Amino acid sequence: MNIFKNRPMKYNNILVEKNDKIAEIIINRPKKLNALNKETISELHSTFTELESDDHIRVIILTGNGDKAFVAGADISEFADFDVSQGAELAKHGQEILFDFIENLSIPVIAAVNGFALGGGLELAMACHFRVASENAKMGLPEVSLGVIPGYGGTQRLPQLVGKGKAMEMIMTAGMITADDALKNGLVNHVVDQDELLPFCEKLATKIARNSSTAISSAIKAVNANFKEGVNGFDVEVEQFGECFGTDDFEEGTTAFLEKRKPDF
Ligand code: COA
Repeated sequence: MNIFKNRPMKYNNILVEKNDKIAEIIINRPKKLNALNKETISELHSTFTELESDDHIRVIILTGNGDKAFVAGADISEFADFDVSQGAELAKHGQEILFDFIENLSIPVIAAVNGFALGGGLELAMACHFRVASENAKMGLPEVSLGVIPGYGGTQRLPQLVGKGKAMEMIMTAGMITADDALKNGLVNHVVDQDELLPFCEKLATKIARNSSTAISSAIKAVNANFKEGVNGFDVEVEQFGECFGTDDFEEGTTAFLEKRKPDF
């Protein structure tokens, strides 16, 4: 059962529901299998920005509306007539305002992959901090079948998650893999029945929300540093570890432990 209460719709392609410390973003273009058009990308950027500045929200779950697709890719109809510079700008802008933006968000984002996650859809799921899939989910990067390559970070994040060889195979064949295959290859952390997908993610989110949000934000920075060109992740870890010692959460967490009670972050 979904624990979220419906909220009025503010965007054309996005639904946002909040329950206590957890927010759910639902991409809502089911007739187009939730394909990412320009407006949806922009609305997602606004939604993530808004939720990040909401002090009450500790975890975000990102999913697609309907039982068929998470996101079936970037909206092909919008870029079919683009030239070289428009293509480069499409990728650059999208990476900046959505894909890199999510990866570097200070609050955790869980992708609840409820069906097809193809092209930009899989890239979106990979930009999230981790992924849970329903058993019917299918994942792939079909771009080379369209004469392009993944442009929203897919050539970088897929090898990070599944290794270079498997990523090369997936990109070159343009094929789809099943949820179980994705689980075996480390692309998703869990596979559950479709009915269980949101409740399962909500349970994980509730567990995360009990912990220190400032420490989690530092952990995101430190883990991400491992994958940034020219950045020494160990140095970032030292810096972020030190920062934690100046937070209220550190005081509360350690005091609560010594007083043999649960922390109240
Ligand atoms: N961009 C734009 N529209 C898309 C889309 C995309 N990436 N993916 C699906 N759609 C649209 C279809 O055009 C169709 O619209 P219509 O009803 O107005 O014709 C609608 O969504 C339903 O898709 P359809 O293809 O009829 O569903 P299906 O069940 O037969 O096939 C897929 C499902 C996912 C296999 C198929 O839609 C597909 O291959 N999509 C493109 C995937 C892709 O290449 N993504 C990478 C883009 S870079």
